[in-house]
Amino acid sequence: MDAITTRPLDWLADFPAIPGGWAYLDSAATAQKPRQVIDAITRGYAQDYATVHRGVYQRSAEMTLAFEASRQRVARFINAPSANEIVFVRGATEGINLVAQSWGRDNLKPGDRILLSTLEHHSNIVPWQMTGAAIDVVPLTEDHCIDLDAMAAMIRPEHKLVALGHVSNVLGSVLDAKRAAEIAHSVGAKLLLDGCQAVPRMPVDVQALDCDFYVFSGHKLYGPTGIGVLWARSEILEAMPPWQGGGAMIDKVSFERTTFLPPPARFEAGTPHVVGVIGLHAAIDYVEGIGLDAIAAHEAALVREARAALSSLNSVRLFGPDDSAGIVSFAMEGVHPHDIGTILDESRVAVRAGHHCAQPLMAALGVEATARASFGVYNGKQDIAALMRGIERVTRIFG
Ligand SMILES: Cc1ncc(COP(=O)(O)O)c(C=O)c1O
Repeated sequence: MDAITTRPLDWLADFPAIPGGWAYLDSAATAQKPRQVIDAITRGYAQDYATVHRGVYQRSAEMTLAFEASRQRVARFINAPSANEIVFVRGATEGINLVAQSWGRDNLKPGDRILLSTLEHHSNIVPWQMTGAAIDVVPLTEDHCIDLDAMAAMIRPEHKLVALGHVSNVLGSVLDAKRAAEIAHSVGAKLLLDGCQAVPRMPVDVQALDCDFYVFSGHKLYGPTGIGVLWARSEILEAMPPWQGGGAMIDKVSFERTTFLPPPARFEAGTPHVVGVIGLHAAIDYVEGIGLDAIAAHEAALVREARAALSSLNSVRLFGPDDSAGIVSFAMEGVHPHDIGTILDESRVAVRAGHHCAQPLMAALGVEATARASFGVYNGKQDIAALMRGIERVTRIFG
């Protein structure tokens, strides 16, 4: 069944920043915002605004309720057992740094190792390097998925943590996270999943995945920038030391000694991104209103169509597996991806061109950069047609 139905045009109407005739194919970088999210943010500032947790006045008490309701909503969204396991952070990058600096400080001893994969985003490489732990890298299969057979052969008790992308931001490959968890847990390692590209594209259930940490960013999920989520099992979070100090995370402060609140407050120092949290709630309502299964089917159909059209051109090299989730990276013989991006932009098609914050992956693929088309709920056949018209123009210009 072709899941690219007329519905996406309804969804497209929800997005005021996508003018007619503009093919926005860069949702893996950041998703456009539906009116429902924009309205929630506007209400948050124009009507309901106040700080949270501290105010004794009515408005602040109400904002605190809304803020904590969002935490509950996030917990339901990823099926976390408790809202106390949801830590609000600035984004996936901050979530991973938090785990590296806090959990890492307590749990990584000299000689311990961390296992990553070739396809990781720099956000899931650099914070681990900064811990000083030795890093090993799981290679990819021929069809550009994380090679879990290789991972099973590589893992050993020195590996205290495995950190993998749930969905690759370059290749769209989807990790068999349950199997990765089994392999990690077989030596007592914890599994962190970078869910940035997964949460906008498929249902995520952290209990079913059996991971230990899960991070994602609000802005890729049709929500605001500057807000993201770290989920961790409660027993892990409770044992973790604070990583930033300040207001809102303390129990008692004196110059001699400070005691800290339990999670999640222990990890949320300072005034939080109040309206970002409200906007995230609206974004989750929005995607769940459509249904993550419907979004996954819609994007899978777009990927099939885009890959079929691109692979009909001899000059195009496609990356990633055929069943990639919403993301198609490609290169064209004799044309730099930046030139592809610039010419497509002239045709009102927005793609990303570059290393996509995955330089080690580019090296493994033997390229400096790729062009990447990535889809969201607002995309339809018309965008793939526009992409292909633009690619024909690239071919004409470069002969
Ligand atoms: C797979 C993946 N991980 C991490 C990140 C970092 O997300 P943010 O910049 O929102 O912290 C991105 C964003 O491009 C991503 O695609």
